[in-house]
Amino acid sequence: MANILDRFKETIEEVVGANDGKKIKVGIIGCGWIAEAHVIEYLKMDDVEIVAAADLIPGKAEAFMDRLGVKGVRYYNSCVELVDNEKDLDAVSICTYNMQHAPCAIYCLEHGINVMLEKPFTVTLEEAVAVCKAEKASGKLLTIGFQPRMSENMQMIKKIVDSGELGQVYYLQSGGGRRRGIPTPYGTSFIEKETGGVGAVGDIGSYSLDMLLGAVGYPKPLTVTGYKSDFFGKDPGYYANHPEYAEKFGVDDFAAGFVRLEGGIILDFRIAWAMNMDTPGDAIILGTKGGLRIPSTDCWNGEFDKPLKIYKTIAGQEVCTEVPLIPHPDNDPGLFYRKLRSFVDAVKTGGKATCPSSEIIYNQAIIDGIVKSAECGHEIEVEIPEI
Ligand SMILES: NC(=O)c1ccc[n+]([C@@H]2O[C@H](COP(=O)([O-])OP(=O)(O)OC[C@H]3O[C@@H](n4cnc5c(N)ncnc54)[C@H](O)[C@@H]3O)[C@@H](O)[C@H]2O)c1
Repeated sequence: MANILDRFKETIEEVVGANDGKKIKVGIIGCGWIAEAHVIEYLKMDDVEIVAAADLIPGKAEAFMDRLGVKGVRYYNSCVELVDNEKDLDAVSICTYNMQHAPCAIYCLEHGINVMLEKPFTVTLEEAVAVCKAEKASGKLLTIGFQPRMSENMQMIKKIVDSGELGQVYYLQSGGGRRRGIPTPYGTSFIEKETGGVGAVGDIGSYSLDMLLGAVGYPKPLTVTGYKSDFFGKDPGYYANHPEYAEKFGVDDFAAGFVRLEGGIILDFRIAWAMNMDTPGDAIILGTKGGLRIPSTDCWNGEFDKPLKIYKTIAGQEVCTEVPLIPHPDNDPGLFYRKLRSFVDAVKTGGKATCPSSEIIYNQAIIDGIVKSAECGHEIEVEIPEI
């Protein structure tokens, strides 16, 4: 009884899916590290059936599903082979390394399949534009896999901006980054140019951009001045057990950028997989009436774990208000589940993408702008063709 009477205290909406008993057929493309999280969460949904899986490495997809105890799956040696043979797929999770995001997404969309595409969107802006065109022509759903978007704490940042408490936002500074955190737990697909394409700037930089740009309504980037370096990745001494990885390192381990956004907003960006510093700082949002501090974490992975702080002047007094972290409810299925559930629900109901390409193309344009500006050594103008 007490619990029922206490219900008014419950502020977090239950995660409700559009489970109407109809199963959707899903394929998994790329069966490496992150594909495991996709499969584990799909297995919790009784309206999803994993019917097919593909990996370029012969036998990898089958061994992967066997390990996870998934039965009745058909196996293929590439995305193309899977799509050509599976005629009634509803959706795919594309879990390939970055350089295969665009070709796989385009092929699936062209064949009428709804796509959950892992982050970052693509490697280059040109690829992102091509994926958006394929999406538009297909009429199918495409969403990009930024699970931090599903967090109530992350959503609070946008709610604060939207509330008007900060006034007119004019400056964004990204924080995050890692002192040591070049991702090589399962090999070198993140650090080789041929597979990763971009390094920290795309991998965790894309999270950081999504957090800040999402909060202010994803304004279009106009110009970018970028810098990138690879001092740690190229150092054989960095890798305790794999000095040979230094030879393979072909991307950035640190990047910075100065970006002018539509609406007179400046973005001061920095991200690191490795640096001689604990953090490049907190993320901040400055507005004419208030400022917001988003505390940095030890090892940035797209989320934050300490209270937000709002700085304002009230009746002549400078004040700082902490916004308490919203606790996860006991029955919280987790951000990854929510990300996939929102995709499945959108597929089933004809709903909208949680992370639509119309927004994430600006995220990609900044990543691309930083890389291109760093390579040519001067500021560049961002040009995004009509889609
Ligand atoms: N959302 C998250 O929290 C999160 C976490 C880790 C990685 N990721 C993203 O997921 C993606 C994959 O990362 P990973 O660590 O799993 O990489 P991984 O290298 O472990 O696995 C990728 C797999 O894709 C396969 N592959 C590549 N191209 C293919 C194709 N055309 N057809 C079929 N298989 C293909 C590769 O053989 C490999 O086995 C990356 O883009 C990464 O940024 C997201």
